[in-house]
Amino acid sequence: MNKERTFLMVKPDGVQRGLIGEIVKRFEQKGFQLVGAKLLQLSREQAELHYGEHLGKDFFERLVNFITSGPVFAMVWEGDEVIALSRAMIGKTSALDAAPGTIRSDFAVHTNFNLIHGSDSPESARREIANFFSDQELVSYTKVIQQWI
Ligand code: PPS
Repeated sequence: MNKERTFLMVKPDGVQRGLIGEIVKRFEQKGFQLVGAKLLQLSREQAELHYGEHLGKDFFERLVNFITSGPVFAMVWEGDEVIALSRAMIGKTSALDAAPGTIRSDFAVHTNFNLIHGSDSPESARREIANFFSDQELVSYTKVIQQWI
């Protein structure tokens, strides 16, 4: 068992297309536990901080413009191996490479509209959660169903 937390964010295209519920449903049905969530409009500063490691790459400007183009739905999820497993559920960056059954394969067409972000490592998860949520906004609780997962 390796209980972790990860940061997931439905991007502006997912919010506009009404996919928040579908995406939340997938992580709930997998057996992960939602411990924090909010709808928010990112400022340019927040976006540049979040994607700081990609500064200088050819897609950086497009990515920052896109992520600030409308509201996003930020979430923290908890569970065993949730970081790697949620990345697997999201699928590869490009919908062309994403495996069938992943969120990006099922709902995305273009790389620049790829619907959802997920932390790629424990270090990224810690940093991204702290960038978006205060301790008071995250809730620890026990679900009886957890023993069946
Ligand atoms: S890299 O260079 O391998 O680290 O890039 P990658 O991990 O695939 O992607 C980093 C984030 O940039 C987004 N991305 C893009 N956005 C728009 N256009 C293009 N061409 C593009 N390529 C990559 C990608 O979705 C990643 O963002 P998140 O939010 O983590 O999905």
